Amino acid sequence: MKHLIDIKSLTNDEILEITELAHYYEEHVPKGTQKKKKAGSTALLFFENSTRTRFSFEMASKKLGFSAFNFDAQKSSILKGEGFFDTLNNLNAIGCDIAIIRHSKEGFIEELSKKEYDWGLSLVNAGEGQSSHPTQALLDFYTLQKHLKTVEGKKITIVGDIIHSRVAKSNIELLTRFGAHVVCCSPSYFEDWTLTNAKYEPVLKDALNDADAVMGLRIQKERIETRVPYAQYIEDYQIKESNLPKKAILMHPGPVNRDVEIEGALLDSNRGKIITEQARNGVFVRMAVLDLIYEGTKR
Ligand code: CP
Repeated sequence: MKHLIDIKSLTNDEILEITELAHYYEEHVPKGTQKKKKAGSTALLFFENSTRTRFSFEMASKKLGFSAFNFDAQKSSILKGEGFFDTLNNLNAIGCDIAIIRHSKEGFIEELSKKEYDWGLSLVNAGEGQSSHPTQALLDFYTLQKHLKTVEGKKITIVGDIIHSRVAKSNIELLTRFGAHVVCCSPSYFEDWTLTNAKYEPVLKDALNDADAVMGLRIQKERIETRVPYAQYIEDYQIKESNLPKKAILMHPGPVNRDVEIEGALLDSNRGKIITEQARNGVFVRMAVLDLIYEGTKR
């Protein structure tokens, strides 16, 4: 693995290798018994807001022994007109091993990875537009495996703003490859008909019925130009203690808009705890991704 572009670019064996290594890190990091520290470096280039992904990549880098550098676009020479590719070329020359990139332009990381340039820099997609967020899907898969043992044959319901969600798209790609039955539930204005691997069920009660896992999604205000009828949305689509099946685990990639997509009291209950566990699992999964890329490409 030289880059992590999207879920499509990973084989099932590579996905399982990542989750197995993440499990190793989850077992060993708290005890301080992990493998020898690495001498590489990561650059975190976030052009969209982030809390979980940026911090967990930085934490993962540091736990592996990497130096992690945050790139501040507002103080960088991009504002003086330097292009993104030239920026990466210079970060490579300065000695960065892995560039972790969040960007609004879809297909951007793949486009950069195809540039014919003799550099050792690896690229990792940390969330790209509305199209892909591979490390979120990997950590969600890891979390699901921990709680459900396997996703094969399991009903996983994703509720909310599907069309603007890169998390939904990467999760549908990954989970259906491992035999999960993914059901998407949203009002018609958040529906994405291109997601043919998932079943669409517009009525929340039916979508939640017999679900093994339920993933809420945030309404992505920053990507929506028209007015969202929030009160009606909450009435029809909010996940609550009263409608969440007893056997289902509750997940959400974050950030959560409390009392919109999930009732606040449910978030604060024991059933809401897996959402913060997802954030914690993100550190181990991202350690695994960075480790496999670094070891695979070390010059
Ligand atoms: N889930 C997720 O990508 O969260 P952040 O935007 O806070 O990184």
